[in-house]
Amino acid sequence: MPEPLLRTRLSVGYPGKPDVLQELELAIGEGEIVGLVGQSGSGKSTLGLAIPRLLVTTAQVSGEIRYRGENLLKRSEREMRRIRGKEIAVVFQGAASALNPARRLGAQLWEVWRAHRSRSDWNTEGREQAMALLRTMQLPDDEAFLRRYPSEISIGQAQRVLVAMAVMHRPALVIADEPTSALDMVTQAEVLGLMRSLRDQFGSSLLFISHDLAAVSAVCDRLAILREGQIVEMGPTAEIFAGARHPYTKALIRAMPGRTHVGEPCRVDQR
Ligand SMILES: Nc1ncnc2c1ncn2[C@@H]1O[C@H](COP(=O)(O)OP(=O)(O)O)[C@@H](O)[C@H]1O
Ligand SMILES: [Mg+2]
Repeated sequence: MPEPLLRTRLSVGYPGKPDVLQELELAIGEGEIVGLVGQSGSGKSTLGLAIPRLLVTTAQVSGEIRYRGENLLKRSEREMRRIRGKEIAVVFQGAASALNPARRLGAQLWEVWRAHRSRSDWNTEGREQAMALLRTMQLPDDEAFLRRYPSEISIGQAQRVLVAMAVMHRPALVIADEPTSALDMVTQAEVLGLMRSLRDQFGSSLLFISHDLAAVSAVCDRLAILREGQIVEMGPTAEIFAGARHPYTKALIRAMPGRTHVGEPCRVDQR
């Protein structure tokens, strides 16, 4: 079997809370979209932050995070800075607060470019790439939009700007932690559909983290159900819906709004 893009066997604890993740095993293949679903406090964000090594320094981490066959836990902080944003990108919860309110959108896109590329490339290459990404995200790709401040765009637009920033350097893996929970249902489906198109366009793998099974089931190839730091069930999305084995997964499926019977994941329009 080929080595997956990412494979973890990871334990994480915080002071006074030793077992937040317990030898958690998760593999993500090239170009695969995996959904990590679990209720609040189950350890989802801990995993999402642990992979790019962004956990608080008090966290105790052991095990392995194999990315392209190499253990990220053995990399220096300097090497991790090269990997973050370029190889592995993260889209955090809360679009409004993740953008700098005092900087124009254009300046913030430029800063993301500059983190891994030279300033001089911006005019020849970066700017056009940023514009193309704005178009992919169905945002205005004109000067007027770049001159706006975050307070002058909608939350849905802000979330899409964040996604555009995350994929500027064509990362192999995008980790999106509750990327749409601040959005209404329609916008949520739109943003998820657009993120899926990133995979089709760039071949990026995606890890979608959410407490909302309904939101991720529409876009994910595979689901991993997390409960109290352990994955209780994992498999192709359709199989999980057709025959969930673990009682916890069954309860999550039953709790999905608007579901009449088990066996049919709800679908959003994929443009
Ligand atoms: N920085 C931290 N310090 C101490 N405990 C934390 C910290 N971050 C999260 N926790 C605890 O770890 C557990 C898992 O949290 P988290 O990973 O944020 O779960 P989720 O994203 O699924 O809601 C919770 O009990 C939470 O209180
Ligand atoms: Mg969380």
